[in-house]
Amino acid sequence: MSLFRKKNVEHMLQASAKGAGLKKALGALDLTFLGIGAIIGTGIFVLTGTGAVQAGPALMVSFLIAAVACCFAALSYAEFASTIPVAGSIYTYSYATLGEVIAWIIGWDLMLEYGLASSAVSVGWSGYLQSLLSGFGVTLPAALTAAPGALPGVHTLFNLPAFLVMMGITALLSIGVRESTRINNIMVAIKVTVVLLVIAVGAFHVTPANWHPFMPHGWNGVFGAAAVMFFAFIGFDAVSSAAEEVKSPKRDLPVGIIASLAVCAVLYVSVAAVVTGIVPWQQFANIGHPVSYALQVAGEKWVAGFIDLGAVLGMLTVILVMSYGQTRIIFAMSRDGLLPAKLSKVHPRFATPFFTTWLVGIFFGLIGALVPLNVLAELINIGTLAAFSMVSVAVLVLRKTHPNLPRAFRCPGVPVVPVLAVASCLFLMLNLAWLTWVAFMVWLVIGLAIYFLYSRRHAHLARAPQDR
Ligand code: ALA
Repeated sequence: MSLFRKKNVEHMLQASAKGAGLKKALGALDLTFLGIGAIIGTGIFVLTGTGAVQAGPALMVSFLIAAVACCFAALSYAEFASTIPVAGSIYTYSYATLGEVIAWIIGWDLMLEYGLASSAVSVGWSGYLQSLLSGFGVTLPAALTAAPGALPGVHTLFNLPAFLVMMGITALLSIGVRESTRINNIMVAIKVTVVLLVIAVGAFHVTPANWHPFMPHGWNGVFGAAAVMFFAFIGFDAVSSAAEEVKSPKRDLPVGIIASLAVCAVLYVSVAAVVTGIVPWQQFANIGHPVSYALQVAGEKWVAGFIDLGAVLGMLTVILVMSYGQTRIIFAMSRDGLLPAKLSKVHPRFATPFFTTWLVGIFFGLIGALVPLNVLAELINIGTLAAFSMVSVAVLVLRKTHPNLPRAFRCPGVPVVPVLAVASCLFLMLNLAWLTWVAFMVWLVIGLAIYFLYSRRHAHLARAPQDR
């Protein structure tokens, strides 16, 4: 069954130990920052309003449900990340455990996650930038503010700020990880400070009466919002994509993944409590900047301004980490022969996949400029949830097929925790719109066509049977 041919785990570990030309520059704290940088973004700053309308004050519960689902998946992730520290995230892990065709599907799903997420966040960034600029009396020509059809009744053509921000981030990434992560660390500090400010200042303006009724749309609303707000947690897995550039991956990766997820979960639930406590949830309909809006309603105009600024700066890091993860997955797939070899070429001076970085940046920059945010968000969630379910299955498979492989971090409660991860991811997927499912199926069919027409024949495993 060559469809399910597998990479040899021991060979992968040896190759990783030798290194593939990427710099090993990252530590545990860099990774935690990379994680938080990827996680806090459009989800909390923009989609919180949508979530509040759907779930009411019980948005707090929706966040908790999404966080618990991510936590199960994160524990599986951490085990794999610490066992097979090679570039390419769960794509690489599944190549060694579930076989080539499944690995391809996962890699293909990850393109929905990382690639489209960078596009989606660039759109959210553009919205906050425009809101910030309007505070200074600057407005862009309407045609250049959003994708075609994004704003009802307004003739829009191209989201210029979204495209330009993607180009800036791509330039940073293309010249090297070290430089990019240093900037990332500063931005993360700003973003976390801003979120803490929302909680600390907002808490004094909460009217507990706004929390009643707590669940205006019942559990359906809570689950629906959880499926959407899951977007807010996407990103912790980007940490594992950096495996080959980590100084001591076995110790640092699990710490980075779990610490970043835990910090964000606490912040999100607190922000949800504060904003739904300040503003009655119905008022969040059609508000594109719900978090700063709540502080405006509370009369804290200066704080609201800081939030706008912090969101603009903070979302930069999300775009950075998502684009970074995307380039490294393509890099890994190309190195395995599933994609053309040019895509894994490392730049002699910058030690980065320079060509791939620009290719990805321009492609997803154009998508961000031309496709509305709501279309992007659900697609990203379904692709990511599918990939998360698969990695949780993979952790179980690897325990059976390679029980003695050294694991710096072991997922607790196996098989219960991975099984719960699969169940909770599938549950969230079932709460997404049926049109999203249709689009997802189309995406899978295209991916499989490429696999059977190109990748299957060009895979290095097709030529090197000793690696199986
Ligand atoms: N979690 C990221 C965000 O909310 C994708 O922007």
